[in-house]
Amino acid sequence: MKITPFETEHFFARYEFSTPYQLCNSDCESVTIEELLRMAGDSVEGLGHERLVYTQSQGSPELRQAIAETYANVPADRVVVLGTPVEGIYLAARALLDPGDDVIVVTPAYDALVNLFEHVVGTAHVSKWKFRADGSRWSLDLDDLRALITESTRLIVVNFPHNPTGYLPSPEWQRELAGLAAEHGLWLFCDEMYFGLVHSGTPAIPSMADVSDRAVVLSGLSKTYGLPGLRCGWLIVPERNLREDLVNWKFYTSICPPVPTEYLARAALRVGERLKQRNIDRIERNLAIAEAFFARWPELFEWRRPLAGSTALVGFDVPSVGALAERLATEEGILIQSAAMLGSDDRHMRIGLGRDGFAEALQRFEDWLRRNPAAC
Ligand SMILES: Cc1ncc(COP(=O)(O)O)c(C=O)c1O
Repeated sequence: MKITPFETEHFFARYEFSTPYQLCNSDCESVTIEELLRMAGDSVEGLGHERLVYTQSQGSPELRQAIAETYANVPADRVVVLGTPVEGIYLAARALLDPGDDVIVVTPAYDALVNLFEHVVGTAHVSKWKFRADGSRWSLDLDDLRALITESTRLIVVNFPHNPTGYLPSPEWQRELAGLAAEHGLWLFCDEMYFGLVHSGTPAIPSMADVSDRAVVLSGLSKTYGLPGLRCGWLIVPERNLREDLVNWKFYTSICPPVPTEYLARAALRVGERLKQRNIDRIERNLAIAEAFFARWPELFEWRRPLAGSTALVGFDVPSVGALAERLATEEGILIQSAAMLGSDDRHMRIGLGRDGFAEALQRFEDWLRRNPAAC
C-alpha cells in the first residue's frame, strides 16, 4: 500500500548534506558523543563496555525513570521508549484508531502528523484545524476546533511548541483543550518534541501528560536537547491496555531501543537542563538576528515572532518559495524551505533558529537578496 511522499524528509535528503548555509533546520546544534559523556561525568570507555544485546521493549527501567522525572506527575511505567521519535506517531495512530474514526490535526504541521493519520484512517477522515494569522502572531481558535468535531471523532492531534509557527498556548487555553477532549471522550495526541524551548517573555506550560489523562504525549531528545542522531524518543501512555497495544505494534517496527541510544540518553538526561539551556540561549541569539533582518526587509517578508520552539513561519513575497529554494540550494548552497510541504503555502518559508551557523547563513541569504532584486 502506498503512502503520501514525506516531502520534508525528501527535501532534506536531497539538500541537507550538500548545502553549507542552512536556514530551515528544526533541530538544535548537536554535540559529540565524547562531549556529551564528559558533560555527564562519564566516558567513551563506559559506553564501550556495553554489550550489544536486545533491550527491554518498553525501555530500560533506568531510562524510563529518568524520563519520568522530567514530568511533574508521570510514573515510569507510563513511559514507552521508542526506536525513533517519528515512530511514535505511527504507533499511536495504529494503537488509537479503528476504521471509520475521524481525526482532527493542526495544520500546518510536520508532515508525519498529517500523513500517517491519513494513511491509517483515510484522507476523508482527517480534518485540518488551521492556524490563523492573527495580526503579529499565529493563533489557534478553540471554536474552530469545536466546529470540526463529529460523532466519529476519536482523536485530536496537536504539537506544542509548534513546528513551524513557534506557537505555544497559554496554560488556561491548554486546560480548556484538555477539558474539551474529556467532555467529548476524545484522545489527544500531543507532539511535544520541542518541549521546554520557551522564549523569554512567553509563559511556560506543563506537559499535557501532567494535565490530562486522555493525552498520549510524544517527546524525545532530537530538538530540545540537540541530539537528533541519537534517535531517542518516547511516548507517555496513560492507559495500560493502550500501552500494551502500542508495544505490540512496536514489536513489528523496532522491537526495542538500541543499547548505545539507551546509554547515551541516560547520560543526556543527567545534563538535560544544561543541554536545553544552551539551545534556548542559541535560539534567543538567533531570534535577535532574525528580527533585525526582517526589520530591514519589511516589504519582502511577513514576520511573526515565535513564542517557543526552534522554528518560525515567515511570509515571503515571491511567486514560489519552492522554486527559489531549489535555485538557492543548487547555485548558492543556501537552504530555505517552502512551507507548502508542511501544509501552509508556497509563499511562506520555515526558518530554523537552533543552529550556530544561522547568522552566517542569513548573511549569505541577505547578500544574495541584495544582488538579485529582480528575483524577488
Ligand atoms: C513536530 C515533530 N514531531 C516529530 C518529529 C520527528 O523527530 P525525529 O526526526 O527525531 O524522529 C519532528 C522532526 O522534525 C517534528 O518536527
